[in-house]
Amino acid sequence: MTAQNNGNFLNRHLSWKLAVMGGAYGNVPALQACIDDARSQGCQTMAFIGDAIGCCGHSAEILALINRNFSLLVAGNHEQQAALGQSMCGCGYESPEDEQAGCQAFNIALRDISQDHRRWLLTWPNELLVKTPAGPVLLCHGSPERTNEFLYASQFSEARWERFLKIREITGFVCTHSGLPWIHRVGTDRFAANCGVVGKPDHDGNTEVHYSILDVSYFGELKVSICSVRYDEIAWARQLRSEGVPDLFISPLETGVWTTGLSSLPESERLVHFGQRHNEMTIRTHDEFRSVPHANDDKCSRPQGLNGESPD
Ligand SMILES: [Fe+2]
Repeated sequence: MTAQNNGNFLNRHLSWKLAVMGGAYGNVPALQACIDDARSQGCQTMAFIGDAIGCCGHSAEILALINRNFSLLVAGNHEQQAALGQSMCGCGYESPEDEQAGCQAFNIALRDISQDHRRWLLTWPNELLVKTPAGPVLLCHGSPERTNEFLYASQFSEARWERFLKIREITGFVCTHSGLPWIHRVGTDRFAANCGVVGKPDHDGNTEVHYSILDVSYFGELKVSICSVRYDEIAWARQLRSEGVPDLFISPLETGVWTTGLSSLPESERLVHFGQRHNEMTIRTHDEFRSVPHANDDKCSRPQGLNGESPD
């Protein structure tokens, strides 16, 4: 799929809150807890930016939950591979053992995927440009340049992404895929963020999961934050064990410490980070808000749902 311009939130009278989530990996109670948290924080719109399915199985259930609650969708490597009928996860890990574990997880997810699911997943775009009073914001999966690129905080190149954001004339981007949330200011008035993942903790010894909120004022101020959410991981781990999910994938949910994907991490990120993450940033953009409000201009289109319905 190609780039889309199908999120237009320019003409809002008041501030607008967008929740951005990714990496559910079939973790139904964690995604539900994040949806509930986003609603309780007043998010009017929710975007899911890929890897809905994964090691927990429950693919039909998680896709139904996404279909009911998210108006903006971006495909991750899991959606792209499942849509094409592939058995490889396409995660893009440097280490063969990490890629093998990724494919093992992906094959658990595929057990519950129907032809209708595949047809729907094929309609998810690989990026989405959301127009806001603070300027356009790009939603993508791995990076704006590759669905399965891992963007880590310790390797962030401000020069690379400042060049990219200026060429595309956008205020910032939000990605997921790596599982580790971060926020970077780019120049003075642009940003890049990784919203983390809702399906597993971020290797910090804490079992909470993560997503992002973009809070955009009518006058062009944009606040990016990372939210941490609790859910009943003990009951979920018990259920997954009874369903035969390998312990390799259950243990991180119970301990907050990863068992897979570690060999491919930058060395400094392999260590367990105990609550050291930067979780909020405000960007004041130079984007001048000139638009006159029109009642119907803030509607967004989305890939048609599983049964043609839309949560908006
Ligand atoms: Fe991914």
